Amino acid sequence: MKVLAPLFAFFALASAQGLTIGTPKKGQRIPMERPFTVQVIKNPHIISSIEVALTIGIVSCPQSSGCPDPSNVGEVLYQGPYRPRPHRAGGNYQNFTVTIPFDEDLIGRSQLTVNRFFLIGAQNGATLQSYGVEIDTFPL
Ligand SMILES: *[C@@H]1O[C@H](CO)[C@@H](O)[C@H](O)[C@H]1NC(C)=O
Repeated sequence: MKVLAPLFAFFALASAQGLTIGTPKKGQRIPMERPFTVQVIKNPHIISSIEVALTIGIVSCPQSSGCPDPSNVGEVLYQGPYRPRPHRAGGNYQNFTVTIPFDEDLIGRSQLTVNRFFLIGAQNGATLQSYGVEIDTFPL
């Protein structure tokens, strides 16, 4: 336990370093081929972290198997830097405008994926966090 305790403490700290997806909300209906906002909020944290990159993707959730693990990015809607900024309302976040292309396979239940690559702690440990938000996609 003596060895494991600091490890658990580190993971507790690391998970407190997480993100919140402000929008879209779970179950939200999103039309294809129309831009919409993905609000990625960086939660307040104790230890500093260096943001390296973020991806936003979309993947279908087949009825038979459900949504895959959100580390499966799916069709890439955004790839690039993550630069959250403090706002008067809503905290420290960055809004991304993305568009889901028309894709028959994505009609119905699908999962918006957000993957964040960042460095944390004194050793700048490379860390990947994956988030998924189930949405309902439909063609216009
Ligand atoms: C970011 O997106 C959220 C949710 O759509 C919205 O409420 C907020 O006003 C947007 N912020 C800016 C600065 O555009």
